[in-house]
This record gives sequence, structure tokens and C-alpha cells, in this order.
Amino acid sequence: MNFLSLIESKRDGRALTADELRQAVSAFTAARIPDYQMAAFLMAVYLQGLDAKETRALTLAMRDSGDVLSFPADERPVVDKHSTGGIGDKVSLPLVPLLACLGFRVPMIAGRGLGITGGTLDKLDSIPGFKTALPPEQIREIIQTVGCLISGQTARMAPADRGMYALRDVTGTVPSIPLIVASILSKKLAEGLQALVLDVKFGVAAFMPTKERARELARAMVAIGTECGVQARALLTAMDTPLGRAAGNWLEVVEAVHCLEGHGPADLEGLVLACAAHLLLQTGRERSLETALERARQCLVSRRPRQKWDEMLEAQGADLERFNQRLAQGHTAPVVLGLRAWKPGFISRCDARILGEAIRDMGAGRITKEATLDYEAGVDGLAKIGERVEPGSLLARFHGTDPARVEQARERSKAAFAIAEEKPDKRELIAEVVSP
Ligand code: URA
Repeated sequence: MNFLSLIESKRDGRALTADELRQAVSAFTAARIPDYQMAAFLMAVYLQGLDAKETRALTLAMRDSGDVLSFPADERPVVDKHSTGGIGDKVSLPLVPLLACLGFRVPMIAGRGLGITGGTLDKLDSIPGFKTALPPEQIREIIQTVGCLISGQTARMAPADRGMYALRDVTGTVPSIPLIVASILSKKLAEGLQALVLDVKFGVAAFMPTKERARELARAMVAIGTECGVQARALLTAMDTPLGRAAGNWLEVVEAVHCLEGHGPADLEGLVLACAAHLLLQTGRERSLETALERARQCLVSRRPRQKWDEMLEAQGADLERFNQRLAQGHTAPVVLGLRAWKPGFISRCDARILGEAIRDMGAGRITKEATLDYEAGVDGLAKIGERVEPGSLLARFHGTDPARVEQARERSKAAFAIAEEKPDKRELIAEVVSP
């Protein structure tokens, strides 16, 4: 294969064949294409785009660049959820055990934080002993016995994406819809799924700033996912304000457990139940969204998902005794500072981008690839839009290890809040559902 000709074809706007894309991905995975040529190809794709046929071929070629998980035939469908990421988005943590209790198998392969958005694996790393690197044999065993797990991508899963993503990250080619579709779906398809629900976020702290771009991405992922044999559906959800009342690795784990114990924040619980309900519909286990939501709610309040969470933690090596001791302590950071309301009124803004940047800079996220995380750092007790406050009411608590950084985060975060005389109109978290 002459990769230079492929770069030139794409540069000049010609469509590539499935065979050409497959050969290119396989040569890149085998290190037979240098990074500078792949970077040029990615830029050509960024500028010229890929049509639906090319996007599907690229997705499948990337999926097949490594192992594809497979599970024995079983009455429990294999399903998963993917979120494009946001501040305080800890939906996966309560959702995965809930889905297992609803009769699904969930081999969730999750990622680390990207930009200001938190990553599920980083949150799980705050749990003593929890292992996020599992070999395929152990993934299969846990899925068949426990029914769910959350692991990182194994070295042999979609390796083409790892290399291509690293190049996109440093060549300004991340925001390309066909490349995002192929990147996300190649990893999800490598889990051997039957159904996938996608949470595509839009707003100030989302990967896609506008609802229109989020819709475009959602439609492309649903279409390609469906063509690749997965029952796919997407929810478009707002990400202007954090999800729940906590953001930061350990604090989000605590809030996820509260959700499993029936006292999580309403927006988090609503989104967890919605994702579960849509998967029940997608797999034909329920016929209406109403009955599916009710079934998911009944399952959550039964506390079985809370027990399943413990089972999953144990199967993945967590020290449950230490975990439960830390949970009982609530927060464990040495420094905790409150931010208080300066006048009476209603919370009309709680900007997720400002808070996300402040939390990341306290150590909850990465500023460099090598950065080590402060798992305690973050915010909780967040006041939600529409809530009434009086002067001195708590707007948020900032947790961390370094007093100067925590104080700085608190100062910066004042700008995230606005207090209005009138109660703002309620905005629905789930703006749209995109079906095949
Ligand atoms: N997440 C991914 O895994 N890939 C992308 O391209 C963007 C977000």
C-alpha cells in the first residue's frame, strides 16, 4: 500500500475505499506508517471529512486493530453506556451495577479525564485497592459471575485508536466528527456489545459547545453504531452546570454511592434511570419509556444495585473495609473551605467550565500528561440552579490538600455563580433523544 497516495486522495477530497482504510489502519498499528504521515492523513480527514461509508469502514478497521471481547451466549444482553464527558458526570458508577441488577451484562471500558472533564477511571482510582487494568480473561470471568465491571482499555483493545488519538491531541484534529465517531465506537464495539446508549453533552463545559453539533455527532454515532450491528441510541444532555452536587474524584465516588443508597441528587438519579430505561427499550425488555423508568426506579430503591457495587469492587480487588471506613468519614481532604452567597435570591448560574477549571487546577485533573492527581480535591455541596439562597448560604465547599490552591479555587469560582431576584425557568437536562 502506498500511504502517500491515500493522503493525497483525501487531501483532494476523494472518497477512500474500505479496503484502503483497513490497510492503512493495519499498517499504522504495525508501526509501518510513521507518525508524521498519519498526522498528515488525520489533518486531511479533518479538513475534507469522511462520508458515512468511509466512517463505518474506519470504525471497523480500528475495532479490528486489536482484540474484540466475546462472551458466551446467555439470556443477559451485553450493553454499555458512553458519555462524551462533563463536570461531575459520575453516571457510570451507579449505572453499571444498576444495569447488572436489571439483567444485563456490562463490560464497561472507561477512560481517564480529558481536558477539564473528569474520567471514570480516575474516580475509581480513588478507591483503595481497586484495579482498573484487567486482562481479557478476567473481564470475561467477572462479567459471567458478577455481571458488570469497569476497566481501562487493555493494551490489545483498539490499539489503532490509542496511537491515532495521541496524534490528534497534538495536531489540532480532535474536533472532527468522523474521527470522534470512529474513535469512540471502535472502542465500544471491541466490547462485543448488543446495545449502547450514548450521552452526548452540549454546553459551556462539553466537548460539543452547541446542541446542533452535539446532534450531528449523536446522529452519526447512532447511525454507524446501528450499521455495525449494535442497537444504539443517544441522549443529548445539557452540560452548562455540573451534574449533581459534587465534582472531583473521591467526592464523586461518595455521591455515586449516595445515589445507589437512594439519596443522590435528583439530576444524577434522573440521568442514571433514563440511561437504564433506554437500554431496557433498546433491547426489547420494556415497551414504553414510562414502564422502563419505573422498572429501573424500583430496582434502584431495592438496594440490590448497592450490593452489586460492593460485589463489583471486591471482584476488582478493592479493600471494601477501608473503602467503607472512608465513606463513613464523608470527606477526607485536610483543607475544606466554603463559598457563601453574598445576597438573597435564586441561583441562576453555576458555570461548569469555571468550576471544572478551578477543580482541575486544584489537582483533581491533569495539566500535563505526567501530572499526579489529588484524589481528594474537588467541590461538593454545590447549590443548584433555581435554589433559593440567603446571604451566608453555602454555595459550594472546596476540598484539597494545599491551602493556597484551595483558596485560589474558591476565589476563582465566585465568578461561576449568579444570584437573581427571579427564579429562572427550569431547563430539562435531557434535551433530545436520537434513535436510529
Ligand atoms: N473520546 C474518545 O474516546 N475519542 C474522541 O475522539 C473523543 C472523545
